[in-house]
Amino acid sequence: MTESLDVNVALGPRSYHISVVSHQFDQFAETLENWLNHNPAFRNTVAEGNKSALIITDRNLAALHAPKIENSLQMRGWKWETAVIEPGEKSKSLAVISSLYDQLVAMKADRQTVVIAVGGGVIGDAAGFVAATYVRGLPFVQVPTSLLAHVDSSVGGKVGVNHPQAKNLIGAFYQPLGVFIDTSTLETLPERDYRSGLAEVVKYGVILDAQFFHYLEQNIAGLNQRSADVLRTVIARSCELKAEVVEQDEHERTGLRAILNYGHTFAHAFETLCGYGELMHGEAVSIGMVYASYLAEKLNLITHHETERQIQLLQALGLPVLLPEGTQLNTDDIIDRMKLDKKTVGGQLRFVLPTSVGRVEVFKEIPEELVREVLEDLRRSAVKDDFQI
Ligand SMILES: NC(=O)c1ccc[n+]([C@@H]2O[C@H](COP(=O)([O-])OP(=O)(O)OC[C@H]3O[C@@H](n4cnc5c(N)ncnc54)[C@H](O)[C@@H]3O)[C@@H](O)[C@H]2O)c1
Ligand SMILES: [Zn+2]
Repeated sequence: MTESLDVNVALGPRSYHISVVSHQFDQFAETLENWLNHNPAFRNTVAEGNKSALIITDRNLAALHAPKIENSLQMRGWKWETAVIEPGEKSKSLAVISSLYDQLVAMKADRQTVVIAVGGGVIGDAAGFVAATYVRGLPFVQVPTSLLAHVDSSVGGKVGVNHPQAKNLIGAFYQPLGVFIDTSTLETLPERDYRSGLAEVVKYGVILDAQFFHYLEQNIAGLNQRSADVLRTVIARSCELKAEVVEQDEHERTGLRAILNYGHTFAHAFETLCGYGELMHGEAVSIGMVYASYLAEKLNLITHHETERQIQLLQALGLPVLLPEGTQLNTDDIIDRMKLDKKTVGGQLRFVLPTSVGRVEVFKEIPEELVREVLEDLRRSAVKDDFQI
């Protein structure tokens, strides 16, 4: 039996556990029952034999990983239905949510019916929104399957769907009863999705933990080979770091949660302007972190050595550090986009910038001229020699 790591997310009455394991799907139902038994609102659910669930998954995962959850539930006498939705961002819509409500009505779900999300961030966000709103709250469990979902979207309680005009416009903060992460799901994750998830992992090192950043530098081979041991450590630490931030700013009110957006102001602009499918989110974040770090250099917050360390690590993990060759984004367009970012206040450019590897601060009112300089300097053709990229 392999080691299992447990992360506690301390949010008072909404506290929960993240269990990080490898090849232990057969333990899922027992873990779920444990979580229910330890939660004051559901402590009689199992004892009274009220073991019913709705699994929400997508068409890819329905064949790959959901059956392992179903087997585990069956072994312990649960009743469940499985809702299979289409993979992809389009499924984060109110129409899909509505069809999931229909299924809950049809199966006569009650306040104790557990909603189990088996999938990437799309499934977690959509299933979480259903759980948050159906009869004002059903017990919710996440079984994330993508690396991004392991280290980011399944931690922190943000759930929701897109509006046709804007991503993640409709949603809630709703904490799960527990998160069950089995690293074996990553064995089937496509290469680009995997590497994209690693960008968020590197981000945690830069923003919060120099020692963790060093661990990543030392374990590049293990990360590239998707070694289960390395992955458990890396995923558990990433969850812990995000949890520490969320614990201090659960509802995004104090501003602390903003540090999780390191690299994201640039990334969001690149993602949107490059057009759909050109850059994955994590790839854009990887490039965005290099831009942000370079901006920090310009402000004398760090030396080039610190940017170089990030570039080396990101490249060793197969991530891009500059916009793809041939991408000609207009500097004005990028600046305009950044001003539209929902995290911008009053059109002022705000950036999360490193002051060393392992520490960042939020900087408001960064002069637009400096950002322009960064965008011009880092045009691929101009930097190839200086940056040794
Ligand atoms: N709630 C939050 O705090 C938060 C944070 C970050 C991102 N998000 C959201 O997460 C979403 C992106 O998540 P994502 O990157 O996981 O995308 P996703 O859920 O669309 O999954 C990507 C693709 O990978 C497939 N897949 C997932 N796991 C797999 C596996 N183990 N094997 C094979 N295929 C697998 C899926 O079927 C899908 O086709 C976005 O909607 C974003 O808004 C939410
Ligand atoms: Zn991100």
